[in-house]
Amino acid sequence: MAQVLLEKKGNVAIASIDRPKALNALNSSVLDELDALLDAVCKDKEIRVLILTGSGEKAFVAGADIGEMSELNPEEGTAFGKKGNDVFRKLETLPIPTIAAVNGYALGGGCELSMACDIRICSDTAVFGQPETGLGITPGFGGTQRLARLIGPGMAKQLIYSAKNIKADEALRIGLVNAVYPAEELPAAALKLAETIAANAPIAVRACKKAIDEGLELPMDEAIALEETLFGSCFGTEDQKEGMHAFLEKRRHEPYQNR
Ligand code: CAA
Repeated sequence: MAQVLLEKKGNVAIASIDRPKALNALNSSVLDELDALLDAVCKDKEIRVLILTGSGEKAFVAGADIGEMSELNPEEGTAFGKKGNDVFRKLETLPIPTIAAVNGYALGGGCELSMACDIRICSDTAVFGQPETGLGITPGFGGTQRLARLIGPGMAKQLIYSAKNIKADEALRIGLVNAVYPAEELPAAALKLAETIAANAPIAVRACKKAIDEGLELPMDEAIALEETLFGSCFGTEDQKEGMHAFLEKRRHEPYQNR
């Protein structure tokens, strides 16, 4: 039975980790399914934004599967970490924007999964944390790297060393999430944000993602040059012509065609 579900609403796709009995914990087969889903999303030219969430009321994802990890040896542990990292990196480098709609526990691999998305919003019931040191391991699906980059090394170290969970309001305060919604409003808020993004010129949106993500890895002069190239490439698109002509003609632009 599928453990990762995909639903499409117009140009938005919603992927749900669907293993609620284990609070959507990530075992190898869930990771394989997520990997295949990302390939399918990448190929589907209709999809302009991907939302990631968890099935059930309680959890986004409560971490990597502790049962599966409990008896691993160092080589197997390294391989399990690589398996998760490869999938999360595929998610992070997906050309289209991604939104984590964090609807409950986002612990360990769950917090890491949300951080591999471009944008995080959450319910007021969400709980974030990296509990790994309390289990005798380090975060293993990118947590030491992405948390430090997102919220700064000082706060990341406090969360990771202490293994203490934080609630939604604290996640908002430290910049781990962009917004908090009452739990029942989160799916609609995520969809509204996704639809807003999907209505903008898709080639330009994808170029922005590339410019930000790849530019952050470059010295400023090279990063600016990357932006120039991407900016210039937009002028070869039909959507740029329509968007600017519509403005000048004082009319609403036609729906963007992704061309
Ligand atoms: N792995 C495997 N099973 C898990 C799980 C996990 N990460 N989290 C929850 N479950 C299972 C529980 O074992 C339980 O199963 P049974 O009903 O068969 O006993 C079921 O989900 C429900 O969980 P609880 O009964 O514990 O629910 P609760 O409401 O009392 O507590 C919770 C919720 C606080 C999230 C608690 O489940 C918990 O602490 N889970 C583990 C969180 C964690 O440590 N995550 C990090 C894992 S390590 C990691 O992710 C490494 C990495 O970076 C790759």
